[in-house]
Amino acid sequence: MTENREDFPNRRLDGKVAFITGAGRGIGRAAAIHLARMGADIAVNDIDLASAKAVGEPIDFDTSVDEIRALGRRAIGLEGDISSEVAVNRMVEQALDQLGRIDILINNAAGAPGAGPASSISLQQWQADLNLNVNSVFLTCRAIVPHMKERGSGKIINITSVAGVRPMNVDLAGYSTSKAAIHALTRSLALELAPLGITANSLAVGEVGTHMFKRFAEGIMDDMLRQVPMKRMATLEECSGVIEFLATNQSSYVTGQAIFMDGGWIELNPSFSGGNVP
Ligand SMILES: NC(=O)c1ccc[n+]([C@@H]2O[C@H](COP(=O)([O-])OP(=O)(O)OC[C@H]3O[C@@H](n4cnc5c(N)ncnc54)[C@H](O)[C@@H]3O)[C@@H](O)[C@H]2O)c1
Repeated sequence: MTENREDFPNRRLDGKVAFITGAGRGIGRAAAIHLARMGADIAVNDIDLASAKAVGEPIDFDTSVDEIRALGRRAIGLEGDISSEVAVNRMVEQALDQLGRIDILINNAAGAPGAGPASSISLQQWQADLNLNVNSVFLTCRAIVPHMKERGSGKIINITSVAGVRPMNVDLAGYSTSKAAIHALTRSLALELAPLGITANSLAVGEVGTHMFKRFAEGIMDDMLRQVPMKRMATLEECSGVIEFLATNQSSYVTGQAIFMDGGWIELNPSFSGGNVP
């Protein structure tokens, strides 16, 4: 069912276009729907546009592209591997051709295809994680920033992880390293682009009950949650709320930052709370 434009009072992104990687499911899909409700048109990238259905995420449509169109917004589906230079350049060109501009870039797609401990994984495993998680961010920024420069504005939002500061699991060596690298890449971009009206920030997510988290935390979910001072995971709405802040002019003087959305996990250690946190 198509919803009415009047259903959404918060229309601060009317006329804007967001390019979101890995937006077929999980945090990327939620952000795409949220920004579409705020008026943005969306270029949806995923290696599998039907990935929400494939992992049993509740969805009334075949893909998030259809969901966004049902909100009355323009959306295009860009199925392709975000770590491939050829695919990224093709998808960015398609987005610009069909949607005319890109105001917001959300680098969200990630994974741990090369999982294993740092001392024993193969070079191929190591490179698989860095390709998917870091090279993808470099490639999309390199393809999209020239267009942002032409217009003298743009918002780059890189989704990282608490694992970029504190490894959660020895098998996530490549994943953790890549998330730390994105923090450094974000700051480099922010420094370069600050005089040009383009901001770059990262959102370091803690624990959100997506397909990825369930796979990473299999068997240790309760232990992990015990360490979170807030004693719960973040919701997709909470992720979208911080993304909204970074995507709008509310954050116009914020750049080069890493916002940690982790229920206090990194900064507050419950074992030093003097017993106040059970
Ligand atoms: N869920 C969590 O608890 C958590 C914690 C910390 C950080 N994060 C970060 O949040 C972001 C989103 O994670 P999520 O939990 O929604 O994960 P998810 O696995 O549910 O979704 C990731 C999406 O990326 C897509 N994808 C994978 N490889 C791709 C490729 N090569 N090209 C294009 N798309 C590809 C997948 O098909 C999927 O739709 C990631 O950057 C992740 O590292 C998540």
